[in-house]
Amino acid sequence: MTNPTSNVAYETHEHDVLVIGAGGAGLRAAIEASALGLKVGLVCKSLLGKAHTVMAEGGCAASMGYVDSADGWKTHFKDTMHGGKFLNNFRMAQLHAQEAPERIRELERWGAVFDRTPDGKISQRPFGGHTYRRLCHVGDHTGLEIIRTLQDKGVHSGLDVYMEATITDLLKDGDRVSGAFGYWRESGRFVVFKAKAVILATGGIGRAYKITSNSWEYSGDGDAMAYRAGAELMDMEFIQFHPTGMVWPNGVRGLLVTEAVRGEGGRLYNALGERFMEKVDPKRMELSTRDIVSKAINKEVKEGRGSPHGGVFLDISHRGAEYILKKLPGMYRQLLEFADVDITKGPMEIGPTTHYTMGGVRVEAESTMTKVPGLFAAGEVAAGMHGANRLGGNSLSDLLVFGRRAGLGAYEYIKANNPSTNLSEEVIAAAAKRVTKCFDSDSGENPYTIHKELQDMMQAKVGIVRTEAELHEAIEALKGFRARVANVSVTGSRQFNPGWHLAIELENMLTCAEAVARCALQRTESRGGHTREDHPEYHPHWSTVNSVASQDQDGSMNVGEIPLLPMPEELKALCEGEVGIPKPAA
Ligand code: FUM
Repeated sequence: MTNPTSNVAYETHEHDVLVIGAGGAGLRAAIEASALGLKVGLVCKSLLGKAHTVMAEGGCAASMGYVDSADGWKTHFKDTMHGGKFLNNFRMAQLHAQEAPERIRELERWGAVFDRTPDGKISQRPFGGHTYRRLCHVGDHTGLEIIRTLQDKGVHSGLDVYMEATITDLLKDGDRVSGAFGYWRESGRFVVFKAKAVILATGGIGRAYKITSNSWEYSGDGDAMAYRAGAELMDMEFIQFHPTGMVWPNGVRGLLVTEAVRGEGGRLYNALGERFMEKVDPKRMELSTRDIVSKAINKEVKEGRGSPHGGVFLDISHRGAEYILKKLPGMYRQLLEFADVDITKGPMEIGPTTHYTMGGVRVEAESTMTKVPGLFAAGEVAAGMHGANRLGGNSLSDLLVFGRRAGLGAYEYIKANNPSTNLSEEVIAAAAKRVTKCFDSDSGENPYTIHKELQDMMQAKVGIVRTEAELHEAIEALKGFRARVANVSVTGSRQFNPGWHLAIELENMLTCAEAVARCALQRTESRGGHTREDHPEYHPHWSTVNSVASQDQDGSMNVGEIPLLPMPEELKALCEGEVGIPKPAA
């Protein structure tokens, strides 16, 4: 219909709950809400199940105790807090560790086929920072199997699935979120979703960086939409650079080489043939946490001991072809097809790749509700669970635990408040205007040029190792990018127009990039996925606070800090060492 007041044509769909993002967290949230009797719409930016979830290849962490019977939720909790350098929302880490095993058993009931031990239990493998062999896995495609299972369960749960639709703004009725505005990627036609509650499950912000394991969808849309709607972004400075991405050929630079290669015994070498992790974390070696391994690789390369294509060597060939083909069939094919390397015979070259955003939308642990009534967030888009650094395998269990909790949280919110789904035409018209203004300018720049320059800048100045001077330069550069994006030009019509899609995403990437750079400047210490060359140590003050970014009335970004939630004594007692100021492993 064309609305007479706004002159905007759009179609409308109405649901109790709208889930934005159809990876693991979104699917799990949608399944839960639907099981509780709600009418659920699930919007996918691309196709159902095509999500970064599949890039968690090596396994899903849950203390089943099938392989190491001493494991339990308390050790998983302790490992997660140590891995996150104690900036985690302790309650999220606790719920996660306690509930992950049941989420795995549930997946099995829904048809997931995990690898087995000889006596028929789910097989669990080691990963960095986990005390015990804890990762339930399916070869090296665990995320894919989890998505397949959730997809199957989801499509039989009566969800309304909307594929290839991009949501550009959350819509509010007063203070409450009551819907979302978007467009169909193919036709460019607008679509309005009315909903009593909205769950964000849009993943991370990897496309703001040049070298990333993230595919094209991950432009920080959820973070930026929540921010514009009044939610807070938390701990945005903490970016996970996964130690092992491919470094060549250029076309696949950043593509993930699963941590399972190291979990199955893979060894890292520099160009001198040294196992350099001996110098850094002699106890855990290659199975140190990701922040530590990435920084060690970065150092080897910077100091001239890198491999020919600017990485280091990762070798699993000593495990033998039969073992590798059984445990890592995907990696075998990936390296052979893309890099002409047979990993059963020799080493591969790898280097850090932007993989995961520990920061994101600030949520309440039990319900996943944000500061904005009616708005929930789960999975990578939500902050808190992983603190300053995520342990590998904890993302799959996170999205299962908190995806379910988001569905439940939305249900309880609706039951308690019976919210309306009113949306004014003015609000809808404003959302349409925001995304079409790029057609008005014919003197501005092409969005692709700006995107490439943004990625180069973020990689160079807000990457693995940061300095005050570079962060100031980054913030200045971001102001320039913002001015250029405000005047970006898009030609053609709204019909299948990737340039237009990118122009919209650029605004989101800029918001996230600014939050990362400003929070990184504020945190004058090094911790997890945030390393300051000029402040290389932990700092007692920064051990007690999370960073927050929110939008000011005038549209500018406010950056500040909030105290950590106080951890109960019985949980503190589970964490060995000095809680809050962990000893640097390196
Ligand atoms: O290396 C991997 O398989 C990735 C796992 C994760 O990010 O959790």
